[in-house]
Amino acid sequence: ERSSNVQTRPPVVTIMGHVDHGKTSLLDKIRETKVANGEAGGITQHIGAYHVKTERGVITFLDTPGHAAFSAMRSRGAQATDIVVLVVAADDGMMPQTAEAIDHARAAGTPIIVAINKMDKPGADPDRVLNELTTKEVVSEEWGGDTPMARISAKTGEGIDNLLEFISLQAELMELEAPVDGAAQGVVIESRLEKGRGPVVSVLVKKGTLKQGDLVLAGEHYGKVRALTDEHGQRIQSAGPSIPVEILGLPETPAAGSEFLVVTDEKKAREVADFRTNR
Ligand code: GTP
Ligand code: NA
Ligand code: MG
Repeated sequence: ERSSNVQTRPPVVTIMGHVDHGKTSLLDKIRETKVANGEAGGITQHIGAYHVKTERGVITFLDTPGHAAFSAMRSRGAQATDIVVLVVAADDGMMPQTAEAIDHARAAGTPIIVAINKMDKPGADPDRVLNELTTKEVVSEEWGGDTPMARISAKTGEGIDNLLEFISLQAELMELEAPVDGAAQGVVIESRLEKGRGPVVSVLVKKGTLKQGDLVLAGEHYGKVRALTDEHGQRIQSAGPSIPVEILGLPETPAAGSEFLVVTDEKKAREVADFRTNR
């Protein structure tokens, strides 16, 4: 049953791929070209996630760690993720972590969009990439399969609008929805201790709306949200589904991947937090 509280939400995208194929460069280029002027300038906060507004709507990107040691975390990331963008360098082709990322996405039931990167390089051979991917049953729409593939350069920006359009089209097909009202729930993306600010916890809201003043239980910790800031460090009053946000006010730093939820009863929050700490 669909209540009017349920609304379309933006897709959450994780970039995966082999070492040095250009994941960070792609995230940086999208941020640089799509985040409104004035926000992009100066210091961009690293909160492990950001969202951009495109002509077709908002897209949220999650940062990904870069090497095999973090594959466990990536698979967890894939669960907060609606769509995986698989970056494959056109001059290098399919590599072990490309195959691993495909397996992670499949295991999580997450659709894949391929970004064939480094198209500006003289050695770029996108047909070879298409060929190699078919051995993992990832077949391009161009070849009668169901995987959209964009030829891009994270260096020049070529093809990035096309990639963003593929993401939005995929999101429309998925009819992503979430309740907007009510107590927020979501996942901790990362947390850190900052001088002068204390524990800073980046979260992604999955349901409901997170507000300043909410009592949040996150992993083994709970506390009242003293302030919310967006990925540019700007104070905001609330954040709805698929929107990444930083929370100030938790007493410590919960682990990345922890679930968070807003609770009304402080005594219950303490009990749950204590139980989790002592188990
Ligand atoms: P890890 O996080 O270490 O796995 O690497 P990554 O996938 O994030 O790759 P990264 O963005 O660090 O890029 C690796 C190298 O490739 C850097 O030297 C980039 O400047 C370069 N690079 C990335 N994208 C492009 C591109 O489109 N064209 C060219 N010519 N170089 C690129
Ligand atoms: Na790198
Ligand atoms: Mg990187």
